[in-house]
Amino acid sequence: MEEKAIKKLTYGVFLLSTKLGHEMDGCVVDTCIQIAKEPERVAVAIENRHYTCELLNHAKEFCISIMDETCSLETIALFGYQTGRETNKFGKIAYETDAKGVPYLTHETCGMISCHIVDKKDLGSHTLFIGEVVEDKVLSHKLPLTYAEYQKRLGK
Ligand SMILES: Cc1cc2nc3c(=O)[nH]c(=O)nc-3n(C[C@H](O)[C@H](O)[C@H](O)COP(=O)(O)O)c2cc1C
Repeated sequence: MEEKAIKKLTYGVFLLSTKLGHEMDGCVVDTCIQIAKEPERVAVAIENRHYTCELLNHAKEFCISIMDETCSLETIALFGYQTGRETNKFGKIAYETDAKGVPYLTHETCGMISCHIVDKKDLGSHTLFIGEVVEDKVLSHKLPLTYAEYQKRLGK
């Protein structure tokens, strides 16, 4: 198969979570980047068919948990290999909530960023959500997990 340069783009690994009414969901993402400094803004691309995307389309906030290098396969599998349409993911793990009640992880996580959604763009397979940072908390000084390390140690 032809080797693709696009596969050489590098990423981190995050949990993107949101809350709509009493409903919470989140999924593992690698497509999260800071896109502006003043004001601080981040973008994240979520597949349109994901339950997280369905909630985000109506929600006002999301939270990013930055997974650290100790992140386990259990955490990745809970949020990245199954859908919140069939399981209550946050019923199976310890979490805290930000000022708006959006959940974020506190273990295997080196930081959290809370965002208010300011824009979105449907790109076909994915929707790009743009968030303005409203809270930023360092949770540990462990190294953040990279997508390359995820693939080497945990990927399937
Ligand atoms: C390492 C990793 C990275 C992922 N990156 C993304 C991503 O950037 N965007 C996305 O929409 N899904 C991504 N996924 C897939 C979702 O996490 C997965 O399909 C999830 O089960 C969707 O759950 P939901 O239906 O509850 O939203 C990734 C999964 C893994 C394991």
